[in-house]
Amino acid sequence: MDPAADLPPVLHPVWDALGAATTRRTAFTLAGLATVSGDGAPQVRSVILRSWDGARGVLGFATDERSAKVRELRADPRVALVLWDDEAQVQVRLAGRAAVVADPAERRRRWEGLGPGTRRGYATTTAPGSAVDGRVGQDDDEAAWFARFAWVEVVVDRVDRLDLAADPHDRMVADRGAGGWRARRVAP
Ligand SMILES: Cc1cc2nc3c(=O)[nH]c(=O)nc-3n(C[C@H](O)[C@H](O)[C@H](O)COP(=O)(O)O)c2cc1C
Repeated sequence: MDPAADLPPVLHPVWDALGAATTRRTAFTLAGLATVSGDGAPQVRSVILRSWDGARGVLGFATDERSAKVRELRADPRVALVLWDDEAQVQVRLAGRAAVVADPAERRRRWEGLGPGTRRGYATTTAPGSAVDGRVGQDDDEAAWFARFAWVEVVVDRVDRLDLAADPHDRMVADRGAGGWRARRVAP
């Protein structure tokens, strides 16, 4: 997706890397996603980044509607993500606001974009994190799988890129404000 016209050039490599990460498997495809839980404690888990709209600065991932992360982000939409490219020696930290997409056509479109193996992951009748006694229940009803599926969008409003391959190390922080993105170099 095209970056926003007013995007500072220092953000272009991040936009390109997020575009690549969501179209093929790259080091940035798997992210650590942090949410705030009900008691204020941070929670973090891995998620696969599946879409990036560079014009809007919006990331998308698929998850289970019944999961703790969905409860958490519905109660407090603030999220943070961390990505690490070991080969490039680049860390990207993102912060923003997450929401479960409600639009039925968009939900359907995103569901249809998932591979069959990923869709099968929603066959579990027992909610994620629930106690299991014996085998985890599964069903074969794709309509039920779809009902358990949530597509979450994160409107990114902060980017922190740390380049450890640079000598000396280089760090840039960018924030989205009313006038668009503003970036500044900071000490690593
Ligand atoms: C490699 C890997 C990829 C994963 N991708 C996703 C994902 O895209 N979406 C998701 O909901 N959970 C994914 N998970 C599972 C989560 O890390 C987590 O265990 C699960 O979603 C429950 O999290 P929660 O209880 O905090 O909601 C992945 C786990 C691993 C190890």
